[in-house]
Amino acid sequence: MPGLSGKRILFGVTGSIAAYKAADWLRSLVKEEAMATVVMTEAAARFVSPLTFSALSGQAVYHDMFDQAPDLVMAHINLSRGADAILVAPATAQTIARLAHGMADNLLSTVILAARIPVVICPAMNSQMLSHPATQDNIRRLASFGYHFVQPGRGELACGEIGDGRLADWDAAREKLLSLFAPDDLKGQTVLITAGPTREALDPARFLSNRSSGKMGFALARTARRRGATVILVAGPVQLPDPPEIEVVHVTTAEEMRRAVMDRAATAHVVVKSAAVADFRPSTYADHKIKKTPQGIQIDLIKNPDILAELGAHRLSGQILVGFAAESRDHAGEGQRKLIEKNVDLMVVNDILGKATGFDVETNQVTLMDREAAVTLPLLSKEETADRIWDKVLQMQNGPPRP
Ligand code: CTP
Repeated sequence: MPGLSGKRILFGVTGSIAAYKAADWLRSLVKEEAMATVVMTEAAARFVSPLTFSALSGQAVYHDMFDQAPDLVMAHINLSRGADAILVAPATAQTIARLAHGMADNLLSTVILAARIPVVICPAMNSQMLSHPATQDNIRRLASFGYHFVQPGRGELACGEIGDGRLADWDAAREKLLSLFAPDDLKGQTVLITAGPTREALDPARFLSNRSSGKMGFALARTARRRGATVILVAGPVQLPDPPEIEVVHVTTAEEMRRAVMDRAATAHVVVKSAAVADFRPSTYADHKIKKTPQGIQIDLIKNPDILAELGAHRLSGQILVGFAAESRDHAGEGQRKLIEKNVDLMVVNDILGKATGFDVETNQVTLMDREAAVTLPLLSKEETADRIWDKVLQMQNGPPRP
């Protein structure tokens, strides 16, 4: 099942002004077909009415430890029993302190103390409260118990100050949750991924580029991170947010991409070149806008460096090189040719003319081609396709499965 669909999340909301953002997070969980049950502290219920959360989740919201309703008498034990994970957002300094000291003086802290499932904490508070040694000590203590933290962001806080302590973005919390449900099989590996198009400028107003959206490369980056890898993503110009917990290097031209890749390739166990690098660039750059002429103009193009071929020519021992081949015809032949010519371990071949496999769509159907065989995957989301590519990379690193 993709994403968080079907996952049962116990969602603890505590008393910070950021509690209103939790309502939006709950909406995102419901939209994704996760099953969320909300437990609020008394202070959270002062900021946002429990009615808001029950209307959004379509379920009762829990906050009273001493509720007499028969099905709630053992709520502190039962609530976490059916859940896959606990998400506490926003988590105040008070709740973090409570949890760090094993206190059980409200329903949420009691539920968490009684639970044996992963807990994700998203702190949100004033930056002085966050940096106070007591809070930092509590965070370290909870981390040592195995609790997962989503770093708060920096920016303007509700109190008017600027600093650390803003509730993280939903994207960061979602990625943390997804990583709990993913295998840890890329842990200890650094993966370098390129994504998106490159742009080759003609004049201050115009450039040559292509239709790559970067979605496949970003899906590879997110799934690798979830599986425990350290990820470096070299991205051409794309309309996608930087994924959390990933070093993103933004570049524009093929030359810049080459430099960014070559500077970092030596540290990578795996390099995946999913970028659609422009093969050519204008031979000259006009400092001023080129004016139209009645007879039209000729543009001279010169060849860009082939980054993948360069990596293939100076292979580091043990490094796995993965290339992409986006083709409109003779997919198998072209994939095979590039596999050999560029000296790579794996080519991912796809059809750019297909409606569900071309540029800027959410799905892809690829053929994974190595020196022994070519296997065509079914039509999948780009994230599912990315996971299959990582499975294949791991299989290549570990050798053939033992009989
Ligand atoms: N690639 C690269 N540098 C280039 C061109 C391509 O690193 N200047 C990489 C792409 O990132 C991809 C693979 O090479 O992983 C194949 O790219 P593709 O555009 O399909 O092939 P080309 O080498 O451009 O070959 P052709 O123009 O013959 O299709």
